[in-house]
Amino acid sequence: MEYIFRTIKPSDAPLLQEFLYLAIYVPEGEQPPAREIVERPELSRYLENWGQPGDIGFIAELRKNSQPIGAAWFRQFSKEKPGYGFVAENIPELSIAVLPEYRRQGLGRDLLTRLIHQARLEGFPGLSLSVSKQNPAIRLYERLDFKPVRDLGDTQVMQRVF
Ligand SMILES: CC(C)(COP(=O)(O)OP(=O)(O)OC[C@H]1O[C@@H](n2cnc3c(N)ncnc32)[C@H](O)[C@@H]1OP(=O)(O)O)[C@@H](O)C(=O)NCCC(=O)NCCS
Repeated sequence: MEYIFRTIKPSDAPLLQEFLYLAIYVPEGEQPPAREIVERPELSRYLENWGQPGDIGFIAELRKNSQPIGAAWFRQFSKEKPGYGFVAENIPELSIAVLPEYRRQGLGRDLLTRLIHQARLEGFPGLSLSVSKQNPAIRLYERLDFKPVRDLGDTQVMQRVF
């Protein structure tokens, strides 16, 4: 599988909505939520008006036909309207999803590595995320040096400090 990364632009908003939906963890055997869930303010705030200062992200596209197969992005949140993985206003929170048929081939790791690199270049002190404790993606985050910083019962907040 050959892919390239390109920067997310404001016009990618509809595509990113798809990836935001895919980023919602669905435990095996459970029904996925209705697609409208991404319109709830707690989720739509991960994307709305994309292109604000500090908004950074990448879409992975297949080289052969430019099909988008994965995306990862981060954005800063305020204390008043935090994300699920909020740690501090100067620490952006990331979101990531790969199309099901392209998972477990290293793309998630590649996207995350790229995102961490870019966050460092931009001068951010770290990145945070929220993950369900049942989500095997936790192992990927641990491998990339994210550490648990807040236990919220079913989910945990993790942070990578640079
Ligand atoms: C999380 C996600 C982005 C990872 O992307 P990916 O391309 O599959 O990631 P990689 O192939 O680079 O690495 C996957 C690693 O994560 C862990 N992992 C991720 N999903 C897993 C699964 N379903 N079962 C077991 N291990 C899994 C494993 O440690 C795996 O490493 P391995 O393949 O060497 O065992 C992707 O699985 C996804 O889109 N999941 C659904 C959405 C989601 O959970 N997003 C994160 C919300 S916090």
